[in-house]
Amino acid sequence: MNISNTFGIPATADRYLEIREETELQALLAGGTLCNAPLLLLGGGSNMVFAHHFPGTILHLENKGIRLVEELCSGDDVFVEAAAGEVWDDFVQHCIAHEWHGLENLTAIPGTVGASPVQNVGAYGVEAKDVIHSVRTFEVATGRERIFMNEECRFAYRDSIFKGELKDRYIVWSVTFRLRRTFQPDVHYKALSDALAAAGMEHPTAQQLSEAIAKVRWSKLPRPEEKGSAGSFFKNPVVSESQYRKLLSEYPDIVAYPVAEGYKLAAGWLIEHAGWKGRSLGRCGVYERQALVLVNLGGCTGQEVVALADAVTADVERRFGVTLQKEAIII
Ligand code: EPU
Repeated sequence: MNISNTFGIPATADRYLEIREETELQALLAGGTLCNAPLLLLGGGSNMVFAHHFPGTILHLENKGIRLVEELCSGDDVFVEAAAGEVWDDFVQHCIAHEWHGLENLTAIPGTVGASPVQNVGAYGVEAKDVIHSVRTFEVATGRERIFMNEECRFAYRDSIFKGELKDRYIVWSVTFRLRRTFQPDVHYKALSDALAAAGMEHPTAQQLSEAIAKVRWSKLPRPEEKGSAGSFFKNPVVSESQYRKLLSEYPDIVAYPVAEGYKLAAGWLIEHAGWKGRSLGRCGVYERQALVLVNLGGCTGQEVVALADAVTADVERRFGVTLQKEAIII
């Protein structure tokens, strides 16, 4: 049993199944056995930390396929359906090569297409919710197909109905994206516009934008094949305006930006200024180039990751009065 996860932690489960065909999934659901034990849906394992044996079934979708949904396409709108098991970045590159635009900012995110709506992945000013049209699923309890339109997915920051109310009740089988034939670069994210300006690329092509994003991304995040991690381990916490003002008066260089509920703080900044950047506990470390990321220093266990995360959270809380929430899922 080789349960893939980008942290590189050896994981075990009672049962591990890989599914390639829709008929295989339907047969499995018809048997009803998935309802009898805990179920875990695994994409690329890029957001999971295995700290314990999983006492149930891990389902890994390996279905493939990318197709233009001709009947929906009109004018500038292109609709593209991708199978849950497609590797996310392969799908992004496929779209760029076909001049279907809108996914460029989401270049080089680890994981699979199936995880994108669950987690509402996001980077450099764009989130999956901005480009998802609908999500095709199968209900675990009945095997019935159900299509969730974008607004039914209740997308929020790194969150959706599939992580909340309907957790583990529907299996995402494919996702349809609404893209554009015309390329309109979205470069409002500061780190990105700075990088483009420095490269003298004020008007990038889709390919250039995607390459610039990959470059910014890999300058801060460890490549999974070199160092195990789960990407951002924590979410950027949102605090009230009054709490932000108070923090700002004490820490004038705190990094934050306004959102509807108050201010979103850069968790990486908080962790760095709590003194944790580059430090480690056991075989798990806080990445030296981006404090939001915890890394496997070699042979690290899930428990070591949790111990480091808890220590970092406690220090940030003590110092800034802000509670960090994990983005990664602990199994
Ligand atoms: N910062 C620090 N110290 C650090 C890290 C960050 O001071 O160690 C400050 C910097 O001032 C920086 C600011 O925080 O300008 C924001 O940092 P960055 O642009 O790296 O973005 P982030 O908020 O730390 C989020 C996502 C990433 C995504 C980037 C770019 C979350 C939890 N993370 O990180 O997503 O790639 O923005 O859009 O929202 C992921 O979820 O796995 C992930 C990598």
